[in-house]
Amino acid sequence: MPLTHTKDLFAKALKGKYALGAFNVNNMELLQAIVEACEEEKAPVMLQISKGARQYANPVYLKKLIEAAVGLSTIPIAVHLDHGDSFELCKDCIDEGFTSVMIDGSHLPFEKNAEVCKKVVDYAHKRNCVVEGELGMLVGAQHDDGEEGGGYSKGGVYTHPDEAVEFVRATGVDSLAVAIGNSHGAYKFKGQQHLDLERLKAIKKALLDAGLGDYPLVLHGASSVPKDLAQEINRYGGKLGEDTAGVPEADIEVARRVGCTKVNIDTDLRLAFTAAIRKCFVESPKEFDPRKYLAPARAKVKELVRHKVKNVLCCAGHAFD
Ligand code: G3H
Ligand code: 13P
Ligand code: ZN
Repeated sequence: MPLTHTKDLFAKALKGKYALGAFNVNNMELLQAIVEACEEEKAPVMLQISKGARQYANPVYLKKLIEAAVGLSTIPIAVHLDHGDSFELCKDCIDEGFTSVMIDGSHLPFEKNAEVCKKVVDYAHKRNCVVEGELGMLVGAQHDDGEEGGGYSKGGVYTHPDEAVEFVRATGVDSLAVAIGNSHGAYKFKGQQHLDLERLKAIKKALLDAGLGDYPLVLHGASSVPKDLAQEINRYGGKLGEDTAGVPEADIEVARRVGCTKVNIDTDLRLAFTAAIRKCFVESPKEFDPRKYLAPARAKVKELVRHKVKNVLCCAGHAFD
């Protein structure tokens, strides 16, 4: 089966009122875990690739790995650039056949963000590719802190509903990542802090009232950072802080019902992968065949993805709608 267009996945997700899992891919085992889990759960899926993943694994390897995964499965699969930080990177991915790209200008002033976003949209739409923009600023680092820097915001800059409307109108962007107190990584909240789900509802309503329809919103930083995974990592020699915290799954559930069509998850996959490898290293210190620790790591990520698509995102069973 060839790639499925992000546009088609969005349309079906909005109609079926479920969220698409957008899972980050960095290597073969993660890819296999995600796709096998979604195949077994009959869930459509978005595979997303960051600039860092392209640097780590090489774009050609990633493309070929994804081709293999798509060829071996029957579910709809879309491929998305996560946190594109320049027009040039987005252009490369569009030219390589990604079905969607994100241009993340969220650390720029509104006009500059809109300008680069519109430039990507103009290029992408002529080539049948859809674009995700971001308005507001997530707490912490925005994306890969390479030489250009990714921007950093201590408290975050929350997305304003009216500005969201203005941004979508000015750029023609197809989906919008929102900042509602969300952040990347394993240390998301302190104390009583949590997602501003009322703001999410207000953004969705403002877009609807402005005639932009059931507009697809995107939730970055959607890992739940399960305590059992953090504890397992530490039990087997890891040193994660006591203050790891993620988005409660109940909040993701609300976000899904409000209309977050794409939910980005990376950290939870990393935690599951690391927990399984650490366990093998401690329990079988004489082992040095990478397959002996990569296979359990892959199995643990698969189990996690099955849980997400079935119990949190509710996209399981929708692959052939
Ligand atoms: O939001 C960022 C994703 O988790 C990708 O992270 O830039 O380290 O690949 P990365
Ligand atoms: P997490 O760090 O919460 O997994 O977020 C991933 C993400 O937003 C990728 O774009
Ligand atoms: Zn993100």
